[in-house]
Amino acid sequence: MSFRIQPSPPARPNRCQLFGPGSRPAIFEKMAASAADVINLDLEDSVAPDDKPEARKNIIQAIGDVDWGNKYLSVRINGLDTPYWYRDVVDLLENAGDRLDQIMIPKVGNAADVYAVDALATAVETARGRKQPISFEVIIESAAGVAHVEDIAASSPRLQAMSLGAADFAASMGMQTTGIGGTQENYYMIHEGQKHWSDPWHWAQAAIVAACRTHGVLPVDGPFGDFSDDDGFIAQARRSATLGMVGKWAIHPRQIALANDVFTPSEAQVAEAREILAAMEQAKKDGAGATVYKGRLVDIASIKQAEVIVRQSEMIGG
Ligand code: COA
Ligand code: MG
Repeated sequence: MSFRIQPSPPARPNRCQLFGPGSRPAIFEKMAASAADVINLDLEDSVAPDDKPEARKNIIQAIGDVDWGNKYLSVRINGLDTPYWYRDVVDLLENAGDRLDQIMIPKVGNAADVYAVDALATAVETARGRKQPISFEVIIESAAGVAHVEDIAASSPRLQAMSLGAADFAASMGMQTTGIGGTQENYYMIHEGQKHWSDPWHWAQAAIVAACRTHGVLPVDGPFGDFSDDDGFIAQARRSATLGMVGKWAIHPRQIALANDVFTPSEAQVAEAREILAAMEQAKKDGAGATVYKGRLVDIASIKQAEVIVRQSEMIGG
């Protein structure tokens, strides 16, 4: 570890973020009754331009009227390249009340984008005497977003989470695909005449995880568009969890249980982690820094690995 200690991210479950268009209030109660940890009511790309004012009203009313239980409640505002975003921020912070936990800023390209929303949010909160400062989450979904990802992760104490947005990211990068996440047919290598598929999202995800872990932000995998493909969703989510992400979006209710399952450490994983901790406790008593567990090396680094799993499990359980 460097002299500078790695900060912990917010200690709240973020296994699944369920999205729903602000222009479709009929589903708000269903979203609130779902098993998602985080709710994202959308003002951005699932809402047509003419429907933005109505969607703002729907969302502000629903934040007050619907029982959201203990869900972390977030609204995705419009991008800073649109004429809508300032009204989104002002209307939400003036009228939505303290039940709104978070604002999601899409298409963030650099730290100054977050600064701009922070400045506006701070002014409105101060004017209105809001008790709890609103938190932020951002979507990395452009070439600039990935290029500046570490600055963005460090941009504001309000920032709690960062997601990869595969569709806009692919478009911004000029990637030859219309798929939203998952396996890309043409991203393969040939070995002994056989195709082996690789993961084109991997490097952007790894960059996000590193930036987030450096600055105490939750790294999250974004949408998986083909909601009929459960196996594809699970494979994508498992790769993300393996890389250090804590959760994934659901753009349809059938994806919620899949995400919760992948991002909740299994009983077997937790049991093994506890056994490793016990083995290392014994090693310490015996005056050793390393020992053998099930035929493999475990040492002081293994304690930290095992603690990641146990802590995640305890945080979700408690
Ligand atoms: N949250 C909660 N419930 C939802 C839902 C959501 N996001 N999407 C659909 N449902 C409900 C439907 O109302 C329906 O309920 P019912 O059984 O009581 O009638 C049930 O789930 C099945 O819905 P289905 O018919 O399969 O889907 P649909 O055609 O109504 O909607 C989408 C499909 C993709 C348009 C819709 O899920 C959606 O808008 N998703 C979110 C899109 C979004 O927010 N995108 C921005 C982020 S990328
Ligand atoms: Mg997007």
